Amino acid sequence: MKNIEFYNGHEMPMLGFGTFELTDYETCKNAVKTAILNGYRHIDTATRYGNEQAVGEGIQEALQESDLTREDLFVTSKLWLTDYGRANVESAYIESLKKLGLDYLDLYLMHWPGTDEAVMVGTWHGMEDLYKDTNVRNIGVCNFEPEQLEALLAQVSIKPVINQVEYHPTFQQRKLSLYLDAQRIYLESWSSLARGDALTNDTIVAVANEVGKTPAQVILRWVYQRGVVSIPRSANPEHIKENIDIFDFELSEAHMERMNQLDTDQRFGPDPTTYEG
Ligand SMILES: NC(=O)c1ccc[n+]([C@@H]2O[C@H](COP(=O)([O-])OP(=O)(O)OC[C@H]3O[C@@H](n4cnc5c(N)ncnc54)[C@H](OP(=O)(O)O)[C@@H]3O)[C@@H](O)[C@H]2O)c1
Repeated sequence: MKNIEFYNGHEMPMLGFGTFELTDYETCKNAVKTAILNGYRHIDTATRYGNEQAVGEGIQEALQESDLTREDLFVTSKLWLTDYGRANVESAYIESLKKLGLDYLDLYLMHWPGTDEAVMVGTWHGMEDLYKDTNVRNIGVCNFEPEQLEALLAQVSIKPVINQVEYHPTFQQRKLSLYLDAQRIYLESWSSLARGDALTNDTIVAVANEVGKTPAQVILRWVYQRGVVSIPRSANPEHIKENIDIFDFELSEAHMERMNQLDTDQRFGPDPTTYEG
């Protein structure tokens, strides 16, 4: 599995494991443990998901049952909107660490831009303080539109390494991708499988049949070949294994192009310019 390298020289595995809606403690713990024991090295959670403790226990159990160490993993969590404001960032980060049972995070993200530019910028100043003063390895954002990033970058000194946004075959974020490329900020896809809806798309099913892979594998491979990070979520051990088994085949240019044509530019998640949590 390939890593990407951020502008600061740090690396991140391009395929990770998502944990949104894994709210049942045992289900979440077992899913995270299964993921790590089957090759995932990157786990994505958030304060808002209410599962940091279960995620942390899944990580601990996987480390105990393997010869992996904490340094082999890349763990992300996110700052929720109610903790925004420069003065609140460090205490929220420490609270996440406590719940996860970890002593550092590889990536800490602002979960949404919010609708108040002064609060957005002030909160990022708190993220910059965190980056300078603590052991957090990288800082980034989620759900930022190009205009919001432009406003942010004009007023801060440390760039986010990544922007985690809704991205799947029917919502390909073309304008944002160009902007991020120009800024050397990576794009990370949430809901790559469109929460399962993309798995029955006729074109994707046809491509999957042609290459002898499943629709989920074809979508995740398409995301990977576009240089985008993905974090598919599953509570099903078979799906967890299937979703990381995408590195022994390649989609041809013609297959990629057929999938590129599926873009309808329609998001199903909230509009980042109005979302307040
Ligand atoms: N930053 C943000 O604002 C934000 C927002 C949303 C999500 N995220 C992150 O992105 C991650 C991924 O997004 P998501 O959880 O919304 O959705 P997703 O990964 O697109 O889809 C998850 C759904 O797909 C199903 N699935 C997974 N693999 C499958 C397979 N191989 N075959 C058939 N079905 C499969 C899962 O069901 P089973 O459990 O039955 O497999 C689940 O219902 C989240 O978990 C979270 O970490 C971030």
